[in-house]
Amino acid sequence: MIQKYVYGHPINTDAVVMEIPERRETLSVMELTESDGVRLCCRMEENDVVYGLGEQVRGMNKRGFTYISYAEDDSIHTENRRSLYAAHNFLVLGRRNQEKSLNKDQSFGIFVDDPGRVVFDVGETKYNQLVIQAGSDCVIYVIDGEGLKDIVKQFRKLIGQSYLPPKWAFGYQQSRWGYRNEDDVREVVNRHHGQGVPLEAVYLDIDYMEDYKDFTVDKEKFPKFGAFTGEMKERGVHLVPIIDAGVKIEKGYPIYEEGVQNDYFCKDENGENFVAAVWPGRVHFPDVLNQEARDWFGGKYRILMEQGIDGFWNDMNEPAIFYSEKNLKKVMDEVLSLKDENLDIDSYFHMTGIVAGLSNNQEDYKSFYHNMNGKKQRHDKVHNLYGFNMTRAAAEAFEKIAPDKRTLLFSRSSYIGMHRYGGIWTGDNESWWSHILLSMQQMPSLNMCGILYTGSDIGGFANDTTEDLLMRWLEFAIFTPLMRNHSAMGTREQEIYQFERIEDFRNIIRIRYGLLPYIYSEYMKAALTDEMYFRPVSFDYPEDAFAYQVEDQLMVGDSIMIAPVYVQNAKGRYVYLPEEMLMVRMHSLEDRTSKVLGKGHHYVEIGLNELVIFVKKNHVLPLAVLDKDVKTTADVAETNMEWLGFIGESVESVEYVLYNDDGISRDYVPEKDWKKMIVQKKELERV
Ligand code: GLC
Repeated sequence: MIQKYVYGHPINTDAVVMEIPERRETLSVMELTESDGVRLCCRMEENDVVYGLGEQVRGMNKRGFTYISYAEDDSIHTENRRSLYAAHNFLVLGRRNQEKSLNKDQSFGIFVDDPGRVVFDVGETKYNQLVIQAGSDCVIYVIDGEGLKDIVKQFRKLIGQSYLPPKWAFGYQQSRWGYRNEDDVREVVNRHHGQGVPLEAVYLDIDYMEDYKDFTVDKEKFPKFGAFTGEMKERGVHLVPIIDAGVKIEKGYPIYEEGVQNDYFCKDENGENFVAAVWPGRVHFPDVLNQEARDWFGGKYRILMEQGIDGFWNDMNEPAIFYSEKNLKKVMDEVLSLKDENLDIDSYFHMTGIVAGLSNNQEDYKSFYHNMNGKKQRHDKVHNLYGFNMTRAAAEAFEKIAPDKRTLLFSRSSYIGMHRYGGIWTGDNESWWSHILLSMQQMPSLNMCGILYTGSDIGGFANDTTEDLLMRWLEFAIFTPLMRNHSAMGTREQEIYQFERIEDFRNIIRIRYGLLPYIYSEYMKAALTDEMYFRPVSFDYPEDAFAYQVEDQLMVGDSIMIAPVYVQNAKGRYVYLPEEMLMVRMHSLEDRTSKVLGKGHHYVEIGLNELVIFVKKNHVLPLAVLDKDVKTTADVAETNMEWLGFIGESVESVEYVLYNDDGISRDYVPEKDWKKMIVQKKELERV
């Protein structure tokens, strides 16, 4: 059951899609005070667990830290960070009884629909207290149900169906900030193909544009862009360009001119277009919270779509600000005034502080305004809606530009509700082992909030990767719907062909293509029925006390559990099995062995070039048989499949619902696309 409570005069965020009658009485599960905004407080019992909050640092169980929902362009994702790029204000408190299994009656979910700053103190100040601090104008939804999965499912119904990408978006994708021109891109494709490695997409980072101007292509680097996208398509490769939030201020640049003429940009206090700076220097921000401006900005994606583009990534849309013109002037004046001074400890740190404080400055976010349905709205109050609405601008435009097709779209910043329009990637991580674990822990939290199409920069964005880090990361990323290797300019090149163990990389990526029928089927079923594709182990085994402590294993789809290695030089790891399972070890897609392991703790050896998965009892999964030269998802023939699975002694066959479709059209017809397969035990013999 979902209860809705309204405080003050909240703006409509469009996060939810269901009409829920408003309750007048006080909130039952948490104590409420309304003196300084809305403050909710409840006691947590010793064994309670808290899941959710989407893109955040730390574990799946969020207990013990304070998280702040305020989208931030902060590339250092260490465990002291309170905000990353997104705001996902939904959590579930799992109350556990004496025996430590779940007490369904006292567990609940809570969604704070407030697009400004919201603070979640999940037992940091006091270990036994959950405190949520929102603004004065917000809507609170409280959900109770039959356990963790059910609470999440109800929430997911409330916020609407998750985004459905084209099937090709489940293939292996290569990106790097630094591919400069056609030849660089060709080289990436040639070298993957040359090594017999499938490749679905190459990303175009900011360098493809002319002076970092959105919806332009640099003619020197890509003289015939339309022809080039065609050439790539013929080779099965999609080009995916980046679009940034800031529009360059430049006379004669049509997007700038039109935006100024029609008042489509955000305004400052004086009603002038607000001036910030990002990649191209001075920019204006399109006011994507204004429907008319949103339609206009979204319509611009057509320029690239007409040249053959069918996928985009939206970036810097927190929005990130290097500096605002106003603040820069103030800081410059102050720094210059110190020119001949003797800088002592205080004045020196003051100076470095004001310079560092130029970027993403809170005062800047308070100094510009949106036009929301004719009403002036200060940005900081609706800050977390910007990335959501930039992505919505694109998705709403795709409905008109390519209504029959699915278009790939994902964003860096997001708010709950954006999951209906696109996916996200988790931003600028580092080539650190701890970031494999962070990515694993973020996945189920994101799925709870409806974001299913997601993944991290494989190999790490910042710093230099190593061969073993990339290999282990890929072994996890085989399961993330977005499987993209991406890195920053200036770091060690990390395409798989830069390393010696090419055969191992090839094997791993081919396993992804072999698992495609399962990954696609499980993703689409989860999206169409409001389920989670990735789940913490405790969601599937709520009666198992130890399952709540498992922070580095995941349930993936209905049939399997994974336990990736994320420690350098480790040759294996401890794995907890909440029930008897079949351990399948793959050296390659074709070279597999398997063994039944009992419930409990096991040390499992996992070589650098091995993938190990655990199949649940009486469950199966489809596996494609691949040709030697498979290059893209289109080469994975659904007709040539075998079954991997674990069927118990007294059972002869099990059912698996296989979802499949043409991967591109948007008519998801249950009778046509959902097939009930009965798999006999003897069909599993090959394993
Ligand atoms: C931002 C993005 C990153 C991209 C870079 C250059 O840092 O998060 O993915 O490569 O900008 O566009």
